[in-house]
Amino acid sequence: MSIAQMRIEYRQAELTQADAPQDPYQLFSRWFEEATLAELPEPNAMNVATVNAEGRPAARTLLLKGFDHQGFVFFTNYASHKGFEMAKNPFVALTFYWAELERQVRIEGSVEKVSDAESDEYFHSRPRGSQIGAHVSPQSQKIANRALLEKRHQELVLTFQEGQIPRPEHWGGYRVTPFSFEFWQGRPSRLHDRLCYTFEQSDWHLSRLAP
Ligand SMILES: Cc1cc2nc3c(=O)[nH]c(=O)nc-3n(C[C@H](O)[C@H](O)[C@H](O)COP(=O)(O)O)c2cc1C
Repeated sequence: MSIAQMRIEYRQAELTQADAPQDPYQLFSRWFEEATLAELPEPNAMNVATVNAEGRPAARTLLLKGFDHQGFVFFTNYASHKGFEMAKNPFVALTFYWAELERQVRIEGSVEKVSDAESDEYFHSRPRGSQIGAHVSPQSQKIANRALLEKRHQELVLTFQEGQIPRPEHWGGYRVTPFSFEFWQGRPSRLHDRLCYTFEQSDWHLSRLAP
C-alpha cells in the first residue's frame, strides 16, 4: 500500500464539553488511566519539544515519571542537547499519542528543574544498571565508538559494587507547569473533537477547537 493511501477512520469515542471537567488535570488523569488499563506499551512515553536560542525546535521521546497539580515530571541529563536548550529557553511542548484509543494530548508550559531531593529520590528508586548508565553516558555528545561506553560501564560496575550510587550532578528532573492542555479524540470523516484548556486570570478556560 502506498503511504498516501494509509489512513484509518476513527470511530471509538467522542469528547464533549459536557464530559469535560473544569480541571484539565482531572481529564488527563482519566485518559492516562484508560491508556494504562488498555495496556498500551509505555503510555507514559511522550514527545517533548524544546526550542533553542535561535528559535529552532527539536523534539524527542521521554518518559513521564509523575504528574499532579504541580506539573509533569521527567528525568534526563542536564548537560544534554535538551538540557542546554531548556536552560536558555524554559518553555516546552509535550505530546502524548495513544493510537489504540485514537487520542492525543498536547500540553504547553514552562519548565524548571525539580529539587535535588526529588531527583535523588527518583534516582535511587531506579534499577542499579540505570543508575550506572546515567554516570556512563555523556548524553548527546559525540563519542568515538560504543566500546568506550562499554569500557566505562565495566569500570563503574566495579567502582559501584556496594553501597548507594551517588546521583551524578548532571542528571535530574524537570517539572513542566502547563499553561495549556488540548485533548484530541479522533472522530469519523476527520471531524475530530478537540477541547482546549488555557490558564488565564488564575483559572482554566475551556474551548472547542475546529479539527
Ligand atoms: C520510548 C523512549 C523513552 C525515552 N525516555 C527517555 C527519558 O526518560 N529520559 C531521557 O533522557 N531520554 C529518554 N529517551 C531518549 C531520548 O529520546 C533522547 O534520545 C535523549 O534524551 C537525547 O535527547 P537530546 O539530545 O535532545 O537531549 C527515550 C527514548 C525513547 C524512544
